[in-house]
Amino acid sequence: MPTRFSLRRRVAAWLLPPLVILLLVNAVLSYQSALDAVNRAYDRSLTAALRAVAERTHSLAGQIHVDIPYAAFEVFEESGQERVYYAVIDPQGEVLTGYAGLAPDDPPPPSGEVHIRNARFLGEEVRLAAQRKRLYDPELGDSDAVTIVFAESTGSRDVLVRELFLGSLRRQLLLVAAGGVLIMLALASAFRPLLALRNAIRQRHAEDLTPVPDTNIPNEVRPLIDAINHHMARLSAMLAARRRFLADAAHQIRTPLAVLGTQAEYGMRQRDPEEMRRTLASLHASVRGARRLANQMLTLSHAEAVNGLIGERAELDFTALARETALELAPLALRKRIALEFEGADTSLRLHGNAAMLREMIANLIDNALRYSPQDARVVVAVAARAGGGAVLRVSDSGPGIAKTERENVFKRFYRILGQGDSEGSGLGLAIVREICWAHGGRIALKDGEHGRGLCVEVELPRSGKP
Ligand SMILES: Nc1ncnc2c1ncn2[C@@H]1O[C@H](COP(=O)(O)OP(=O)(O)OP(=O)(O)O)[C@@H](O)[C@H]1O
Ligand SMILES: [Mg+2]
Repeated sequence: MPTRFSLRRRVAAWLLPPLVILLLVNAVLSYQSALDAVNRAYDRSLTAALRAVAERTHSLAGQIHVDIPYAAFEVFEESGQERVYYAVIDPQGEVLTGYAGLAPDDPPPPSGEVHIRNARFLGEEVRLAAQRKRLYDPELGDSDAVTIVFAESTGSRDVLVRELFLGSLRRQLLLVAAGGVLIMLALASAFRPLLALRNAIRQRHAEDLTPVPDTNIPNEVRPLIDAINHHMARLSAMLAARRRFLADAAHQIRTPLAVLGTQAEYGMRQRDPEEMRRTLASLHASVRGARRLANQMLTLSHAEAVNGLIGERAELDFTALARETALELAPLALRKRIALEFEGADTSLRLHGNAAMLREMIANLIDNALRYSPQDARVVVAVAARAGGGAVLRVSDSGPGIAKTERENVFKRFYRILGQGDSEGSGLGLAIVREICWAHGGRIALKDGEHGRGLCVEVELPRSGKP
C-alpha cells in the first residue's frame, strides 16, 4: 500500500511533543523559582522580627527577661492580613512568652543561625523561623540557651507565587504559539514554489514534454526536477521514434497493398484459367509478404517496448533456446537443401532475459542466413560461453554476404539490399535483432563468414541481460 504523508504534519509531529515536554519542565522550574523568590523576600521580615526579639532577650542572675518590641511586628504590616505567632522557650522547654505549642519539629542549630521551615500551626500552613540564643548567665549553668520562634501564615505568599507563576506560564504559551505560527508561515512560504510548479505542470498540454523550467526552484527539489526532465527527454525521444515508425510503417504497407490491387485487377481481366492461376499464386506470395511485414512490425514494436520499459525477464538456458529455434526453422533449410548445423549444444549457458524476444532474435538471424543463401549452402548456428559470463551466438552462412559499406545500413528499418532473391522480406529483421540485443545489454557485429565467404552475425549477451 502506498504511504502518503504530509510534510507539514511530519514537521508538527517532530516539533510539538518536544515543545510540550519542554513547556512542562519549564513550568515546574518557573514554579520553583517563583516560590524561592517569594520565600526569600518574606523570610527576610520573619528573620528581622526574630532578631529584634532575640536582641531584647537576656538573663540576669538566673532570671530570663523577654521584651517583645513593637518594631518586631512592624515588619509584618506590609504583608497585610497574615497571622503572626511567636514564642520564646526557656532552656527547659517551657514557654516563657507567646503561643504555647509553637515549636519547630527539629531544634535549631546551637550555632545561633536562623532556621526556617514550612510547618503547620493551629490548623494552617505557616512559615516557621527559629533561633537558639545563648544568654551567657553563669547562674543558668550549662543550659543557658533560649529558643525564639516566629511563624507567619502563608496565604499572601501563595497568592504571590501563583501570580508570578501564571504570569510566566502565560508568556511561555504565547511564545510557543507565536513560534508555531511562524513555523507554519515558514513552511507555507517554503512550499509555495512547489505548488506553483504543480500548477504549471497541471496546466500543460498532454503532448508538451518540454523540460520543466528549473528557475525559482529550491535546491532541495532540484534533483527531483532534473530526474523528471530526464524522464521527459526519454519519453519525448521515444514518442518521436514512435511517430517516425508509424509514418514509415504506413508508407511501407501502401506498397504491398498497391501491388495486391494491381495483381487482383490483372487477374480479373484474365480469361485463361492457367494465367489466372499464375496471377493468384503471385497474389498469394504478395499476401505472405504483407503478412510478414505486419508480423515484423509487431515484433519490432514489442522489442522497443522491452528496451528499457518492460522488465519481463527470467533466468533461461540460452543454448536450449537457440537449439529449439534452429529446430523450428529446419523445414525451411530442408526445402532449400541447406545443411543447418548447431554447435555448442553440450554447454548450458544461463542468462537473464526475455525468452520470447531472444527467440525472435535468433529466428530472424537464422531466417536471414537461410533466406539469402543459395541452395545446397551451409548455415552454422554456434553458441559459446562469453568471457565474464553470458553467451555468444554466431550465425554464419556461405551465402553472398553483405558488403562492408552496407553493414551499418542493413540495421535501419525497412532497409533491404535489392536484387538479393527473396522478395518477401520487410527490411525489419536486423532492426529487430539489434533492438533485442541492446535491450539485453548485448553487442552485435556483422563479420565475414567462414573462409571469407558469406556472412557471420555475432551477438554477445551478458549474464545479467540488463542494458
Ligand atoms: N545472411 C545474410 N546474407 C546476405 N544478406 C543478408 C543477410 N542477412 C541480411 N541480409 C541483407 O540485409 C537486408 C536486411 O535484412 P533484414 O533481416 O533486416 O530484412 P529482411 O530480411 O529483408 O526482412 P525481414 O527479415 O524483416 O523479413 C536484407 O534485405 C538482405 O539484403
Ligand atoms: Mg530478415
